Amino acid sequence: MTGSTTRTTAVHVRVPAKVNLELRVGPPRADGFHSLATIYQAVSLFDTVSVTPAEDWQITLSGRTTEGVPADAGNLAVRAAAALAEAAGIRQRAAIRLTKEIPVAGGMAGGSADAAGALVGCNRLWGLDWPLDRLASIAAELGSDIPFLLHGGTALGSGRGEQVVPVLAKGTYHWVFALADGGLSTPAVYAECDRLRAGTHVPEPRPSVGLLGALRSGDVLDVAECLGNDLEPAAISLAPKLGDVIEEGLSYGALAALVSGSGPTVAFLVAGREAAIDLSVALVSTGVVRDVRRATGPVPGAQLDGGAAS
Ligand code: C5P
Repeated sequence: MTGSTTRTTAVHVRVPAKVNLELRVGPPRADGFHSLATIYQAVSLFDTVSVTPAEDWQITLSGRTTEGVPADAGNLAVRAAAALAEAAGIRQRAAIRLTKEIPVAGGMAGGSADAAGALVGCNRLWGLDWPLDRLASIAAELGSDIPFLLHGGTALGSGRGEQVVPVLAKGTYHWVFALADGGLSTPAVYAECDRLRAGTHVPEPRPSVGLLGALRSGDVLDVAECLGNDLEPAAISLAPKLGDVIEEGLSYGALAALVSGSGPTVAFLVAGREAAIDLSVALVSTGVVRDVRRATGPVPGAQLDGGAAS
C-alpha cells in the first residue's frame, strides 16, 4: 500500500458510547486484566472524529466534555491511528479533531469510542479499505472496549471484553445517564473489586441466560430484572454518592439502575421517552445529580459520515 489513494478532504466518523447491561468480572489473569462476560449495548450519545491528512500527528478537542482528555500524542485516538499506520506499513499522519459528547472517564467508553473512530476514519482517509474485523484486531491491542465500538448494536464480550459476538436483541431501550462530578479510574475500580472480593471464590464469568432470553424477546421489564454489574460495589465504595443516585432514580420510577461499566456514570433503564424526560427533570431539579443525558440503544458502531464503517 503506497497511500496514493489518500484523500485530501476531511473524513468524519460518528461513534456511540456504550453501557454494559451485564458485566461479570472473573478473577485477575496473569496479565493483570480480568476475564469478563459482558453484554454491551451501544447508545445514542456520540463523539465525532474528523481526520485530515497532515505532516505530523495533531489532535484538537471541542464539544461538551473535553476536561481531562489528553490533547497530545497520548490520546487514544492518536495512538489508534498510529497503530493503524504502522500495521499497514505506511508513513501517513493525520490531524484528528474530536467533538466530544460522551462523558469523560465515566464508564461509557468515550476514549475507546474516539479510538474506534480514528481507526475507521484513517482507514478511509488513507484508502486502506480494511474490513472491520481487521481493524478490530488492532483495536483489541489498544483497549478492551474498542472492538465493540467498531461493531455497535448489542453484543456479548468475552476474554477481557475484546472478543465480541452480536446478540439477538429486539426493541429499543430508553436510558437516562446520570453524570457524576469527576471520573473514576478504571484500573482503580478493578483493584477495588479485587480488594472487596479478597478471600472469596470468584468463578469464571458467564453471561446470564435470563438476560439473553429477555433481550431475544424484547421485554423491557425482563431486561430490567436481569441488569447487573460486578464492578458496582467497587465503584460505590470509591464514590459512595453513587448509591444515593441509584436510590433516588429508582424512587422516581426508573425500571432499573446500575453503574455504567467502571462508573461513575449511573445508567437508568426507563419505560419510554416520556419516562426518560420525567426522570431527567426529577434528578436534576432535586439536585441529586449535576447533569443527565438521555439516549436510546442499540445503535450501530462507528459510522462514516453518510454510511457504513468501511
Ligand atoms: O482495556 P482498557 O484500556 O479499557 O483497560 C483499562 C484498565 O482496566 C486495564 O489497565 C485494567 O486495569 C482494567 N481492566 C481489567 N480487566 C479487563 C478490562 C480492563 O482489569 N477485562
